[in-house]
Amino acid sequence: MINPLRGMRDLIDNDSERYSYFIEHCSRIAKNYGFAFIETPILEETALFKRSVGESSDIVNKEMYQFTDKGEHDVCMRPEGTAGVVRAFISAKYDKIGGVKRFFYHGPMFRYERPQKGRLRQFHQFGVESFGEASAMEDANVILMLVEIFDFFGIRTKLKLNSLGSNESMRVYKEKLVNFLDATPGFCADCLTRKATNPIRVLDCKDEHCQSLLKDAPVVLDFLSPTCKKDFETLQSVLDSFQVHYEVDTKLVRGLDYYNNTAFEFISEEIGAQSAIAGGGRYDRLVEFLDGKPTAGVGFAMGIERLMELIVMGEQKREGYYLAALCEAALESVFSLTIAKRKKHITLTSYQAKSLKAHLKAADKALVKYFVCIGEDELKNGTVWMKDLETKEEQTLLINNFKEKN
Ligand code: HAM
Repeated sequence: MINPLRGMRDLIDNDSERYSYFIEHCSRIAKNYGFAFIETPILEETALFKRSVGESSDIVNKEMYQFTDKGEHDVCMRPEGTAGVVRAFISAKYDKIGGVKRFFYHGPMFRYERPQKGRLRQFHQFGVESFGEASAMEDANVILMLVEIFDFFGIRTKLKLNSLGSNESMRVYKEKLVNFLDATPGFCADCLTRKATNPIRVLDCKDEHCQSLLKDAPVVLDFLSPTCKKDFETLQSVLDSFQVHYEVDTKLVRGLDYYNNTAFEFISEEIGAQSAIAGGGRYDRLVEFLDGKPTAGVGFAMGIERLMELIVMGEQKREGYYLAALCEAALESVFSLTIAKRKKHITLTSYQAKSLKAHLKAADKALVKYFVCIGEDELKNGTVWMKDLETKEEQTLLINNFKEKN
C-alpha cells in the first residue's frame, strides 16, 4: 500500500468540509476589505525565495523543496506565499503603474520541517498582501481583518506586536546586539551561528538559558527613527480604539528576512506547542529586492491546519434531493429527472433499483432533505413519491409538478 509522504495529509470528509468553510468565509471578509483573489504557481525559481525570504532563514537554509527540473532549472516548491505574490505584482507591472493593489490567496505551502502536531511539510495558508499603501493604518487594517476572521470563527487569540524599524535603524541595532552577544558568554551553538548570519534571530531562541541571558540585551524599539516610532504609535492607537488587545513583544522578529517596521503574530493557547496561527508584517523593501520599483507592502498569512483544529462547525443542515428507482424499469426516468433537478439543487441518485428501505437508508446517511422514488405504481401513474426527511411529511406528486418544484 502506498501511504502519503511524511508530514503530508489528505483533506477528506470533515477536514475538507471545514477547509472549504474556512476559505469561503475568509474570502468573503477579505473581499469586504477590498482584496482580490490571486493564484500564483506553486513552483518558482529558487532565486525568488533566496532573495526574499532570505539566505539566512531556516526556511531557505534547511527547509526548501528544491530540485533541478528536466530543463536544468533550479526550482522550488513555494515555502510561503508572499514572495510569489510580489513576483506576480512585478510581472504584471503594477509597480510601474503605481496606486494601491490588494490581493488574497490560499493554497498549499511546502517546508521540509520535522513533522509534529501542528507542523506539516505540506500545509495550507490563507494570506493577504497589500501594495502601495505606506500608512500604518494599512497595518492596522490587515490586523483588524484577522481579528474579524477569528471573531467570526469564535477563535480566541493573543496578538504580539513589534516594530523592527527601518533598514538604517536595524543596521545600528544589529551592531549593538552583536556587541552584546560578543560580551556575553553562554549562548547555545544555534545562537552563535545566528549571530554571524542574522543576529536578530537570536532573540527568539527557544532555549531558556539563552532567554535569561537576553534579559539585558539592547531593545529594538529604542533604536527606531522618529518616523518609525510615530508609525508604531499610530498602529497601536488604532488597535486601542478598536479595543484590540495586544502585547508589545520586543523579541518578536519573525523567521523571514523581508520585514521592516511592523511585525506581528497571533497565538492560540489551545493547540499545543505550534501555537502561531498567523503571522505577518510590513515589507517595504521587498518589491525593490525583486527588481521592482520601490513599493510599500504589508500582509499576513494564517496556517489553515492549525486553525481548523479550533473551528467548531454548526450541525450540518439537510439539503437537496435523493432520487431512487424501486424497479429496473424506473431507472431511466429517475436518471433524467436527476439531471433536470441538478440545474437548481444538490441531487443524488443511485444507478441501481433497490428496496425502499435500502434507498431510504442511503438518503438519510447522505443528509438530503427530500427522498423521492419511482416504483411500478408511480411509473404507471406518471407520479413520484416524496418524503421530507426532516419533517417526515409524505406526498405523491405528478412528475411534471415535481420537476417544477423548487
Ligand atoms: P509564517 O509565519 O512563516 O509567515 O507562516 C504563517 C503561518 O503559517 C504560521 O503562523 C503558521 O500558522 C503556518 N505555518 C507555518 N509553517 C507551518 C507548518 N510547517 N505546518 C503548519 N502550519 C505552518 C509567512 O509565511 C509569511 N509569508 C506571512 C506574511 C504574509 N507576511 C507578510 N505577508
